Amino acid sequence: MPALTLSNVNKHYKQKHALKSFTFTFENGIYGLLGPNGAGKSTLMNIISDNLTPDNGGEIKWNGEPISSLGAKYREILGFMPQQQSLYDTFTALRFLSYIAALKGLSKAQAKKQIPYVLKMVDLSDCAKKYIGGFSGGMKQRLLIAQALLGEPQLILLDEPTAGLDPKQRVMIRRLLEGFKEKATVIVSTHIVSDIEATANKIIILKDGEIAASGTVKELTSELPHNIEKNLENVYMHHFGDLNRDYFCED
Ligand SMILES: Nc1ncnc2c1ncn2[C@@H]1O[C@H](COP(=O)(O)OP(=O)(O)OP(=O)(O)O)[C@@H](O)[C@H]1O
Ligand SMILES: [Mg+2]
Repeated sequence: MPALTLSNVNKHYKQKHALKSFTFTFENGIYGLLGPNGAGKSTLMNIISDNLTPDNGGEIKWNGEPISSLGAKYREILGFMPQQQSLYDTFTALRFLSYIAALKGLSKAQAKKQIPYVLKMVDLSDCAKKYIGGFSGGMKQRLLIAQALLGEPQLILLDEPTAGLDPKQRVMIRRLLEGFKEKATVIVSTHIVSDIEATANKIIILKDGEIAASGTVKELTSELPHNIEKNLENVYMHHFGDLNRDYFCED
């Protein structure tokens, strides 16, 4: 099974130590990345996608080979949706996806076959020839998910893919990602715990650039105090909130 291994990966931005000795092995399956604003989720995604250089000393390997030496081959297996990405309003969805397909090194024939397929996956088939400028925020978001799925990637990184999506579309994206569980490594960051609670094989909770906890939902919830309901939101609150506070009585 293909694997992505990070060993001792660090990232400093001037004074800020944004990622601290990150060490983890990702195999096929869905990995949910949780953590508050500034925890280091995007820093990690940008490093894995080779869009950001980590500090010296760490190692990132895909199937045992350093990603830095894989070059274009790594880009071929990678699908990345960054948190912040601008779209060209004057492009149609089709033109945008053709452009990304070309950047990813897909042949014209491959692009022609795959573009309708990814558009269908994100429920945008009817909008292929429409200008992006006329898209709603959620439609743009789904188009960005579609571009990450081009090229049948083995490693899919989605940085807050469901931000701004309505509940129906969120459920659709959840189901869509489930379809990749067996054939790809999918890393998804989100602030919406329910997006990953039922589908993720493993959860990683990042806190100040470090792994505060990781494991299956079952493993993480089993560590909760006995009187607390066993769900992922409570695991999150256990790490970042005050679970023992009584929210209903103020005295
Ligand atoms: N280009 C940069 N220059 C300086 N500091 C940065 C830069 N990018 C990120 N940081 C800092 O690194 C830390 C981690 O940021 P990061 O964007 O990875 O967090 P995040 O978990 O993705 O947060 P969010 O939930 O808000 O997207 C934060 O303290 C942030 O201020
Ligand atoms: Mg982020």
